[in-house]
Amino acid sequence: MRAMRIHRYGDPSVIQDDDVPQPEPGPGEVLIRVAATSFNPSDIGVRRGLLQDVLPIELPFTLGGDVAGTVVATGERVFGRVTGAAADYLVAPAATLAAAPATIPLAQAAAIPIAGLTAWQAVFEHAGLQPGQRVLINGAGGGVGGFAVQLAKHAGAYVIATASPRSADVVRNQGADEVVDYTRGPLPGGADAVLNLADVGPAQVAELRAGLRAGGVLVSVTVPVGVHFVARNDPGQLAELAALIDAGVIRVDVSGSRPLTELAAVHRDAEAGRLRGKTILIP
Ligand SMILES: NC(=O)c1ccc[n+]([C@@H]2O[C@H](COP(=O)([O-])OP(=O)(O)OC[C@H]3O[C@@H](n4cnc5c(N)ncnc54)[C@H](OP(=O)(O)O)[C@@H]3O)[C@@H](O)[C@H]2O)c1
Repeated sequence: MRAMRIHRYGDPSVIQDDDVPQPEPGPGEVLIRVAATSFNPSDIGVRRGLLQDVLPIELPFTLGGDVAGTVVATGERVFGRVTGAAADYLVAPAATLAAAPATIPLAQAAAIPIAGLTAWQAVFEHAGLQPGQRVLINGAGGGVGGFAVQLAKHAGAYVIATASPRSADVVRNQGADEVVDYTRGPLPGGADAVLNLADVGPAQVAELRAGLRAGGVLVSVTVPVGVHFVARNDPGQLAELAALIDAGVIRVDVSGSRPLTELAAVHRDAEAGRLRGKTILIP
């Protein structure tokens, strides 16, 4: 079977299209036929060898942290946060997976796990958004942002989102009450919570802090400021995301679909700033 692997750290050319044996599930594991994986910015860090402290890996390493696919033994449609989904098949612990949303094409569910879990945990666990609160979501145009805007609206918050012109309409359609162009500023103030979903420098962090009311909370998934966290897998939260999608409360916005063999090109596009939103990759 095909597996898109790295044998060493480096630029996108280290991503190899390898022919490898199909893995076999051990106790508690299932073999999944991959319908799709999706690209996440952390894949670049993994490929470059920059995340060895946070996400230690062994080489050769198969990329792909999100999966949607079919359990070979049972035919169940599942999705989850995994390792090695940039392949035709992968093995994963059954307990880490959830049933995929029934109302969207299976491959699109690959856009959900990492981005959706990160947004869920930012909105509900770390910001603890309550109805009527005012939240500023910085980086709303990205993969995490698409879920964060919709989940914050679902929590009953008033959502001010930052987006550059290429993402403004998408973010508005996801329910943002106000969209501010971060390339022009200034950002409005008085937020009960600021969710920072963009890799920003000190000047922009100061601007985000200035947007908080006294006692407001800054949550960051990128630079280590305020309440900083690394999202964990949580199949219960995946199931809740699937239920909200099936109920029509939130939407999965897939902005690109590419053959898995183009993974290195997708990395190049991401590094050049040519990707926006979620891109899925189909084996
Ligand atoms: N801690 C964790 O567990 C965790 C989990 C997932 C992701 N992350 C990190 O969170 C970040 C977002 O992930 P993602 O998947 O959403 O990435 P993404 O799809 O690449 O989105 C990033 C978005 O940030 C916006 N942006 C870029 N520069 C900005 C700036 N200076 N100010 C405001 N917005 C800016 C861009 O929006 P426009 O399109 O509007 O220009 C872009 O679409 C990445 O750095 C990722 O590594 C962390």
